[in-house]
Amino acid sequence: MAVSSESLNASNAASRGAFIVMEGMDRAGKTTQVGKLRHTLEEQGHKVKTIRFPDRTTPMGTMIDGYLQSKTEMADHAIHLLFSANRWEKAAWIKEQISQGYMILCDRYYYSGMVYSAAKKNPALSLEWARTPDVGLPRPDRVIFLDLNAAEAEKRGGYGEEKYEKREMQENARELFLGLAGRGEESSDMVVIDAGHSVEQVASAIWDEVMKVVKAVETVPRRELSVVGAWTQVP
Ligand SMILES: Nc1ncnc2c1ncn2[C@@H]1O[C@H](COP(=O)(O)OP(=O)(O)OP(=O)(O)O)[C@@H](O)[C@H]1O
Ligand SMILES: [Mg+2]
Repeated sequence: MAVSSESLNASNAASRGAFIVMEGMDRAGKTTQVGKLRHTLEEQGHKVKTIRFPDRTTPMGTMIDGYLQSKTEMADHAIHLLFSANRWEKAAWIKEQISQGYMILCDRYYYSGMVYSAAKKNPALSLEWARTPDVGLPRPDRVIFLDLNAAEAEKRGGYGEEKYEKREMQENARELFLGLAGRGEESSDMVVIDAGHSVEQVASAIWDEVMKVVKAVETVPRRELSVVGAWTQVP
């Protein structure tokens, strides 16, 4: 596809930004590592924006916040769709920033969305069902799954009081996360990193992955961000 003269003249026009998602169980170190990665990328001259889900600042985010703090009750399917809608609220923004050359670092995304809902083990809310409303969202270039078992996570100050911060939920969610390594496009998008090492060691393993992605988006001009596709096969 031809590149317009307008985009050639824009700053950083040769390449879009990369869309990197940090996933993992509670206390795995996602927020810590997003901060470190941002710092490293900025040191190298990249433009970076960070985002986190749920985004509790929007009207839908306020409802999600009330649910997570057990202030309001909601049916499993209803809250699931709200979490997804909360991501859709930001979809156009993500695409726009990426096209302007920003690296977007996203603290949790639809992986958490589907996995935590399915971890409730509601027989009418399968992982497949849970993934469906996110089909069509911007697809990450790379998803870093920070893997930490529940016992190790609890040593990091314990869980808080929020709805999903319970050992059983966490263990179910971890199993589902790891299962994604063998499912659909997630199997190629997601990389599992052992989050049980020091902050610096984990950061270095993450950087090895991110560096490859940054190189790829820089050397393949204007390869557009793709969208999350439907799962077509039952394993
Ligand atoms: N590699 C590590 N080793 C030991 N402690 C860590 C490591 N990474 C982060 N921590 C500590 O563990 C706690 C949780 O880290 P952080 O908030 O980054 O996790 P998180 O995955 O964002 O958690 P949450 O899901 O609750 O948002 C913090 O006190 C942080 O300093
Ligand atoms: Mg966090």
